[in-house]
Amino acid sequence: TIKKANEAGNGQVNPCIRKDVNKVVDFIDIEDITDKVSLCRCWRSKNWPYCDGAHGTHNKATGDNTGPVVVRHKEN
Ligand code: FES
Repeated sequence: TIKKANEAGNGQVNPCIRKDVNKVVDFIDIEDITDKVSLCRCWRSKNWPYCDGAHGTHNKATGDNTGPVVVRHKEN
């Protein structure tokens, strides 16, 4: 599906995640984050919305430089 989206040249960022909804929105309660959490920004994770490392394959294949946003508790 990634190849298909690129071939279509439709400019879509999201190649395959929840394409049946108008807008992909996720909520994560801050209280549920015990240490830190890595959130996917490449839209290729199979564990969406969490990063599963798929950005590495995407970056190698495309020359892109995407990576996750890491949310963590501030160290005291
Ligand atoms: Fe998408 Fe890591 S898998 S940023």
